Amino acid sequence: MDQQRIERLESSFNLVAPRAQELVDRFYALLFSRYPQVRPMFPDQMGDQKTKLIASLVLVVQNIRTPDKLLDPLTEMGKRHAEYGAVPEHYPLVRDTMLEVLGEIAGDAWNIQLENDWSAALDLVSSVMIEGAKSNTQVA
Ligand code: HEM
Repeated sequence: MDQQRIERLESSFNLVAPRAQELVDRFYALLFSRYPQVRPMFPDQMGDQKTKLIASLVLVVQNIRTPDKLLDPLTEMGKRHAEYGAVPEHYPLVRDTMLEVLGEIAGDAWNIQLENDWSAALDLVSSVMIEGAKSNTQVA
C-alpha cells in the first residue's frame, strides 16, 4: 500500500472516528436491512459487538504502517469468524456496507479515491481473515 493511500486512510478515519458510534449503528442497521440472512448469526444484543467492531477498525488503522503486526490478530479473527459461520462470500457484503456508511458519515469529504482506498484496505483485511479461516479447518 503506497504512502499516499496510507495517509488518506489515516486522515479519513480520523475524520469519522468522533462519530464511531453512529458509524457502527448505521453499519449494522444497513447490513441487516440489505442482507437479513446474516442477522441470525449475530447476538440479539449488539452493544458489545459494536464496540468490538470499532476496536478492530482502530487496530487496523493504527497498525497500517506496520502491517506485519496485523497478521496474527487478523488471522485469529478469521478463525473465529469461520466458527460464527462467516464464509468468503460474506466479506464483500461487509465491505460494501462499510464503504457506503463511511461515505455517509464522511459526507462532502468522501470521494471515489477514498472509496478505492477503503475498498483495498477492507479487501486486504478480508483476505488475511479468510486465509486464517482456512488454516483453522486444515487437517494436520
Ligand atoms: C472486514 C471484515 C470484518 C471485521 C473487521 C470484523 C470484525 C469483527 C469483530 C472485531 C468481532 C468481535 C468478535 C471477534 O473478534 O471475534 C466480530 C464478530 C462477528 N462478526 Fe465480524 N468482522 C468482519 C467480517 C465479518 C463477516 C464477513 C461476517 C459474516 C456475516 C461477520 C460476522 C460476524 C459475527 C456473526 C460476529 C459475532 C459473533 C458472536 O458474537 O457470536 N464478520 N466481527
